[in-house]
Amino acid sequence: MKTFALLAVLVKAIVVLSGPVSTLTEPDPSLAFSVSVDGQTFINKGLVAFGLIPSNFMDSTGNTMGGIGSAIAIKPGSFVQQADGTYTGTLVVQPDRGFNVDGTVDYQGRQHAINFVLNPHYTTSDLSFTQAQQTLALQYQDTLLYTERQGVKTSGLDAQGVRDAQSGFPSTPTADPVMPIANKTYTHLTLDLEGLVLNTDGTFWVSDEYGPYIYRFDGTGALIQTIQPPDAIVPLTNGDVDFTSEDDPDTGRAANQGMMTFPIIQMIADIHTQASNGGNKKSESRYTRLLAYDISQPLEIRPALIAEYVVPLPQDSSGDTIAASEISFVSDQLFLVLSRDSDGHGGDDTESSYKGIDLIDISSATNIAGSDFDSHKNPVAKKGKLDSSVTPATYTSFVSLINSTQLVRFGLHNGDPSDATLIDAKWESIALAPVGDPQNPHDFFVFTASDNDFITTDGISLGQPYNAGLDNDNQFLVFRVTLPTK
Ligand SMILES: *[C@@H]1O[C@H](CO)[C@@H](O)[C@H](O)[C@H]1NC(C)=O
Ligand SMILES: *[C@@H]1O[C@H](CO)[C@@H](O)[C@H](O)[C@H]1NC(C)=O
Repeated sequence: MKTFALLAVLVKAIVVLSGPVSTLTEPDPSLAFSVSVDGQTFINKGLVAFGLIPSNFMDSTGNTMGGIGSAIAIKPGSFVQQADGTYTGTLVVQPDRGFNVDGTVDYQGRQHAINFVLNPHYTTSDLSFTQAQQTLALQYQDTLLYTERQGVKTSGLDAQGVRDAQSGFPSTPTADPVMPIANKTYTHLTLDLEGLVLNTDGTFWVSDEYGPYIYRFDGTGALIQTIQPPDAIVPLTNGDVDFTSEDDPDTGRAANQGMMTFPIIQMIADIHTQASNGGNKKSESRYTRLLAYDISQPLEIRPALIAEYVVPLPQDSSGDTIAASEISFVSDQLFLVLSRDSDGHGGDDTESSYKGIDLIDISSATNIAGSDFDSHKNPVAKKGKLDSSVTPATYTSFVSLINSTQLVRFGLHNGDPSDATLIDAKWESIALAPVGDPQNPHDFFVFTASDNDFITTDGISLGQPYNAGLDNDNQFLVFRVTLPTK
C-alpha cells in the first residue's frame, strides 16, 4: 500500500516537473457540455482555473480583505494573451460592506486591484489543491476608497436615515438616523455594494442594495451621479422611503435584495423585489425583473427606463427561489446570470444543490417598461403567480459551479468535509474575457469569485481584531465557454 501511494506521488511530481504534458489549446472535449437557446448552441467547455486569496489577507488600509466576490470586473485593456499560452490582466474586485456578522459597520466603500496570471488547465487529469492555485495566480496591487461630496467617506452602516433630494441627487440612504438639517452635508451616504462596471473613461458604475440605487464614481473614487429606480422598486414603508436592511419594506425591493449591474450603454437588473413583484415568501419570489436604462445622457437622476422584463429564477426541490446574485451582458437579447443557494464553505450546509452561471434570453419576453407594473400598487406576480398578460424571459441552466467532474480536477469538492477545499457558498460575480483562439472566435473565459463575508479566525475590522470562527478563503473560478451570440 505504502509503495503504491509513494509511486502515485512520484508520478504526479514528474508530471509537474516536466511542465505541461499536453499541448491542448482548448479543454479536452470530454469535459464539454452544451445547451441550446433559441436555436443556438452554447458550450460549457469546463472549469479551467482556480485561485484564492487567503481569508486573513490584509488590504493596504490594514483591514482584512474579504467580500470581494460581491462584484468583479476586468480592468479595460488589461487582459493580454502571452506567447506561452498564459493570460495576464488586472481584476478589480469590490467588497460589499465589511465584516458585519455581528451588525453592520462603518466600512468605507472600496475596490481592490488584483493582477493575475491565468494558466488554463485543459486536460482531464486531477491537480492537487496546491497545484490548482497556480492556474490562477493572484497578486494584490492596491485599494481605491470611495467618497461622496466634500470628500466625505461612504459608510457600510445600516441605512437608518434618509437625506432629502438636493442639487442633482435624489433622496439618499444615509448611515445617520437623524434627518439632515437644511444643506448640511455631515450625513454619510451608506452603501451595500454589489455590481461594478468599469468604463473606458476611468469612471465606474456601482450598484447597491440599500437604495437600491446605481452610483457613478470618477477615477479618484469620488461620487458624481446617483440613479434612482422606478417607484415599484424604491422601498416604501407606510408611504415613506425606508432604506434599512433590517426589515422588509411594505413595497419595493426586499431587504438585502438590490441591484446587479451589467455593462452595456444601458444597464441593470434587480432581483426578486418583494411586494413590487407580488411575492414576499421564498416560494413566491421567483419572478424577478431585468431593467435597462438609457444612460447616454450624462448625470441624470432618473434616466429613461427603456426596457423591463420579467425573469423566472430557478427553484429548489421545495419550490423556493434560487436567488440571482449577478448578471452580465452577452448580447442585447442574452445575459449571463448567476443563481445559487447558500450552501458550501462558510454557508448554511456543506452540500450545495444549485450554483449556476446560466442564460437569460429576452428575445420573446414582454417589455413591461412604462406599464402599470411600474407602480408599487400593481404587482406583476401576485403571490408568485405571473400576470397572464406577460411573457417572461427564458431561463436556461448552463455552467454548474458544483459539477464534481470539474471540481475534482482542481482538488475541490462539494459536500463534506468542511475544509479549505470545499467550494465556497456565496458566488456573486461574473467577468468575461475573450480567449483569442482563432479556431474558436466565440470562446470566452468566465471569471467568478466568492463573497466570503470576511470570515476568518485572524481578522481586522476598522482596526480591531476579530475571530469569526472559520477560515473562509476568497475563492476564484474560471470557466471556458462558447457564446455564439458574442
Ligand atoms: C458535469 O460535467 C461533465 C463533463 O465534465 C458532464 O458530462 C456532465 O453532464 C456535467 N453534469 C452536469 C449536471 O452538468
Ligand atoms: C445653507 O442654508 C442656509 C440656511 O438654510 C442658507 O442661508 C445658505 O445660503 C445655504 N447655503 C448653501 C450653500 O446653499
